[in-house]
Amino acid sequence: MSDDLTPRPEHKFTFGLWTVGNQGRDPFGHETRPALDPVESVHRLAELGAYGVNFHDDDLVPPGSSAAERDAVVARFRTALDDTGMKVPMATTNLFSDPVFADGAFTANDPTVRRYAMHKTMKAMDLGAELGAQVYVMWGGREGVEVDAAKDVRAALDRYAEAVNVLCAYSEAQGYGLRFALEPKPNEPRGDIFLPTVGHALAFIEQLEWPDLVGLNPEFAHETMSGLSFHHAVAQTLWAGKLFHIDLNAQRIGKFDQDFRFGSEGQRDAFYTVRLLESSGWDGMRHFDAHAYRTEDRDGVWDFALGCMRTYLVLAEKARRFDTDPEIAEALATANVSSLEVPQVDWNDAAAVAALRAEEFDVEPLRGRGHGHERLDQLVNELLLGVR
Ligand code: GCO
Ligand code: MN
Ligand code: MN
Repeated sequence: MSDDLTPRPEHKFTFGLWTVGNQGRDPFGHETRPALDPVESVHRLAELGAYGVNFHDDDLVPPGSSAAERDAVVARFRTALDDTGMKVPMATTNLFSDPVFADGAFTANDPTVRRYAMHKTMKAMDLGAELGAQVYVMWGGREGVEVDAAKDVRAALDRYAEAVNVLCAYSEAQGYGLRFALEPKPNEPRGDIFLPTVGHALAFIEQLEWPDLVGLNPEFAHETMSGLSFHHAVAQTLWAGKLFHIDLNAQRIGKFDQDFRFGSEGQRDAFYTVRLLESSGWDGMRHFDAHAYRTEDRDGVWDFALGCMRTYLVLAEKARRFDTDPEIAEALATANVSSLEVPQVDWNDAAAVAALRAEEFDVEPLRGRGHGHERLDQLVNELLLGVR
């Protein structure tokens, strides 16, 4: 293995406890792997070169634990973190497994369920903050509906915003300073989930009381499920200053929520995403929200985890080559790529705006020109296929 492809903590790779801990259950079949002790996950991931782990409250502290049991679990987990140097950059809440959330959590029609969901999230925020989390992910897995008659969407969005506002207020009052990252998803487990795409979620944030505290956690699989480009979704999130976290995995369009090993599908979109993250100066986590195939045993889980990180590093190396390849540079110049960065008209300058209206154009020579995209794309193909 070349040194360049060896994951190291400075690469900031993180995994959810639920990802390597996934036992292979699906809607048609039972678990194929035994439960994994979170402490073992911390040690194994540290050995593989990861930076940290993230968790839902219930991944770490089994539901129904007494206060003393909780403290014992946390103390043991903290020892594993201290022994390995692993960090907990992000935490989240399980608002989807318990049948109490069958009709949603923050958007459940029953007010008691909504209050319980906010209360459970506050406790999970306490746990995350105690272990050093700075980002709090909100994935609204059950915030949705199958039967449109059963829920008023505008009222649901009001209640969703209420919950986010209450939790921001709690974080600030406690001095946690958490940054909240909403995670869009179009469907699964609900027929339709609210805030289905990055675009919907960005618009929602603007309606909140403290929009500066709230950003996004876009996921490769989720945008791809909608047939959208993940790279574009991340780019617009960055453009809006709202990339607070990212969920990397793999997915084919039109399939169930696959959560495959990063880069195992959609390699082009993965390449452009990695190139974007690396060139944007993104200093957050490279988090993998994926799981091993159901065919895998414990060893296969660690093959999966290492594979996610290695593929990221391979694509980062390809991105560096893209930026230094002279033929690619020439093709980019032919396609006039950098000209898009040059503004044309100062909209605060009325004379400049009027001058544009008065301008005469001879667009004939602009018609029918080749843009060189075939050559450019083939060069990218050859780079990705390993012959450049
Ligand atoms: C999914 C989601 C989840 C969330 C996780 C963190 O489709 O199951 O991606 O894995 O990311 O619950 O909030
Ligand atoms: Mn997902
Ligand atoms: Mn996710």
